[in-house]
Amino acid sequence: MPKLIIDNLEIEVPKGTKVIEAAERLGIMIPRFCYHPALGSVGACRVCAVTFLEGPVKGVEMSCMTDAEDGMVVSTTDAEATEFRRYVIEWLMLNHPHDCPVCDEGGHCLLQDETISGGHGIRRYLGKKRTYNDQYLGPFVQHEMNRCIHCFRCRRFYQEFAGYRDLGAMQIGNRTYFGRFQEGPLESPFSGNLIDLCPTGVYTDKPARFKGRRWDFQRAPSVCLHCSLGCNTVGSARYREVVRQEARFNEHVNGHFICDRGRFGFDYVNLPDRPRQARIGEKEVLLEQGIRSAAEALDRIIREAGPEAIACLGSVRNSLETQAVLKRFCQFLGWTLPRFFVDPDTEHKVIRATSRLDGRLAFSMRDVENADFILAVGADPVNEGPMLALAMRQAYRKGASIVVMDPRPVSLPFVFDHLPVAPGDLGLCLRVLAKGVASRTSAERLGPEALEYYEKLPEEYPKDAYIQERLAAIRQGMQKAQRPTLICGTDIVPSTIPDLAADLVLLMKAICDQAGLFYLLPGPNAFGAALLSPGGQPAPLVEAMERGEIRALILVESDPFWLFPDQERLARALDKLELLLVLDYLPSRSLKKAHIVLPTTTYLESTASSFLNQEGRIQSLSPLHQGGCPIHQVSGGTHPRRTFLDPIPGGETRTSAQILSDLASILTGREVALAGKDLWEWLAKENSVFEGLAALSEQSEGLRMIRAKGEERPFSEVGHNGSERKTVPLDHLELLLVDWTMGTEELSCYSRFAQKGEPPPALCMHLEDAHQLGLADGMRVSLHLDGRPLELDLHLVENMARGVMVLPRHRQLSWQGFKGMQPIIPAKLLKRCD
Ligand code: SF4
Ligand code: FES
Repeated sequence: MPKLIIDNLEIEVPKGTKVIEAAERLGIMIPRFCYHPALGSVGACRVCAVTFLEGPVKGVEMSCMTDAEDGMVVSTTDAEATEFRRYVIEWLMLNHPHDCPVCDEGGHCLLQDETISGGHGIRRYLGKKRTYNDQYLGPFVQHEMNRCIHCFRCRRFYQEFAGYRDLGAMQIGNRTYFGRFQEGPLESPFSGNLIDLCPTGVYTDKPARFKGRRWDFQRAPSVCLHCSLGCNTVGSARYREVVRQEARFNEHVNGHFICDRGRFGFDYVNLPDRPRQARIGEKEVLLEQGIRSAAEALDRIIREAGPEAIACLGSVRNSLETQAVLKRFCQFLGWTLPRFFVDPDTEHKVIRATSRLDGRLAFSMRDVENADFILAVGADPVNEGPMLALAMRQAYRKGASIVVMDPRPVSLPFVFDHLPVAPGDLGLCLRVLAKGVASRTSAERLGPEALEYYEKLPEEYPKDAYIQERLAAIRQGMQKAQRPTLICGTDIVPSTIPDLAADLVLLMKAICDQAGLFYLLPGPNAFGAALLSPGGQPAPLVEAMERGEIRALILVESDPFWLFPDQERLARALDKLELLLVLDYLPSRSLKKAHIVLPTTTYLESTASSFLNQEGRIQSLSPLHQGGCPIHQVSGGTHPRRTFLDPIPGGETRTSAQILSDLASILTGREVALAGKDLWEWLAKENSVFEGLAALSEQSEGLRMIRAKGEERPFSEVGHNGSERKTVPLDHLELLLVDWTMGTEELSCYSRFAQKGEPPPALCMHLEDAHQLGLADGMRVSLHLDGRPLELDLHLVENMARGVMVLPRHRQLSWQGFKGMQPIIPAKLLKRCD
């Protein structure tokens, strides 16, 4: 390892480290514009010049282009280097407009900082500045090309790092233009990172435009809640309005970047119709009064029908604290324990996935980046966990082979093999692969359980030579790999798949110790929900309400209308309740039907809260601001009224956990602090994986809440018993409800910014299936299931499974209007609109 001296400080760094990085390890920030730790060096800007005093390199050189070597003595403050850097700034400023007062980057602009700190204050150049035309780049990114300093960061990120081609560099030399090849919205779902990356104000945050300077904002580290990956962010708020989310570095999770859903999906916290005031029926009341009325109604129902008549439903968007307090609340009062999933099948899959993930198998996104073979099963990364696609692309750039086994028309920003099999066939594919990857000897090494499992696996994929051939190629890829990785979805897959995926990785471990498993889960705290789920077969909630067995339902940050595929039935069931009590911050459909509404804070206004991402990594967030109605909403856009009152308008809300504690106190007639300091102790008793929670405050990158070793019985029953193909009759189609990057995820669907980036919903099916039905691409079609027919555009593709229709759970579609929806439906129910 080379040893060198920088500014009189000695450091030893791994071979290949650049001098700029070595200096950074010593806490010395050499100026930079084009260098970025994720993008590497290109030597485009020349502002990182330092003087090499002794060693193999001499004189002024670029620190980002020079590898650290033994014996180097470097000065970053030498007069020759600082003068060089000052001239670089001066020539960059020749063409840069002096528009800092109206530029949104002002206040956190790297060019502004380096200009000031480099001492450039007098303009000597009197000529005309170079100017460009700006482009419309869509709803998220504002373009101001005159500010460009040609560092190439945008093109390098957009094309090389992220793999999209519609933005790049055009023309040459001093006239180089960075933009789209044709004006229009950026195609990449990671486009917002241009805003963070640009060292000047060429790309700025359009929704946050002119909302304030960096020093005007309250800022706090945060975590994105728009999928299960838990990317790290920094939020900014001003005048009680959250105005911006930016990426925050976490080496193991998102690296330096986030996706556009995460960046622009936060606006649900600012909605003018967000519940801010407690309500009994239509009447607004004080929060205390609402809690008291709810307690009285619950008390009456318990006296009349017993605690079994009350059900509680949390959700996968609850923080761990909320989930824990809700469960503790029910335990404390002797009620039926809460559920956190609307769909029992999803609950089962997530519980199986989380219980199979242990310290030997779990992979982080960082591990995915370093994989050399990736098999994604029943997973559509760009749509289900966008940043996962970016991690997979980094693996691809390092040479990994990537295969996706999924019925959907999966699109990824790199070359990959797609095996489009129907969901019902995925299990058999996994079992055939497991048989091929392992051998009798390697299974035997894992113990008698493994051998028994292995012996029962099928050798071949019956009656389909094409799939058998493809599986053989996948098997070979896995066997050759040093770090094979299995990514497994939990949305459209049958309930056996999470177990079969874990079984396959366990068998791979016998031949390759570095094999790993990565699940995608349905929500930011689905992992926590699974750990706290009471288990057992959940009693179907809607049926119990219909039969009158449930007389009161408490929804804690949960909206069953969002996922239940028969809205009318659900509405009728809710109408039968004597009490629908909703604690939420979203103006959801459930909230509109509630008898009592108790408004709650979001995670940005709560006390500290925690979420477990899909690898079980718990991350704690600090509150960003106190909350309350944004000032422009209560003042009509002008200066806030001077009321000189203490209460903050809309600021009466409390966390769900506090409200549940208050409810418990009234119901029991004594002070109860369910969310107190002992909550983590309670969690550790509930589930031993939480025993390590005390160490969380020292772990800025989060801490995994998983067992070091998995379950006692390492291989699943489903593997032993087989999971054979589900046959779909020829004249039938299988309807898959799926997620899209924009337009289907609950929280971002309420964001007015994210809504602008939603593509219109469309039904997707295989070209040949459509032709057999006499349908063509772009045609308007209607789907006639029971209930209201659903009309939408038809999109035909070739890269998806036959016999399958893919429908996004798009907020603009009333897909919940289907009654008693069956996934396998007669093809004749899909018709061309007249
Ligand atoms: Fe948020 Fe998921 Fe996007 Fe990460 S990938 S920024 S967690 S939506
Ligand atoms: Fe080294 Fe730009 S940062 S040349």
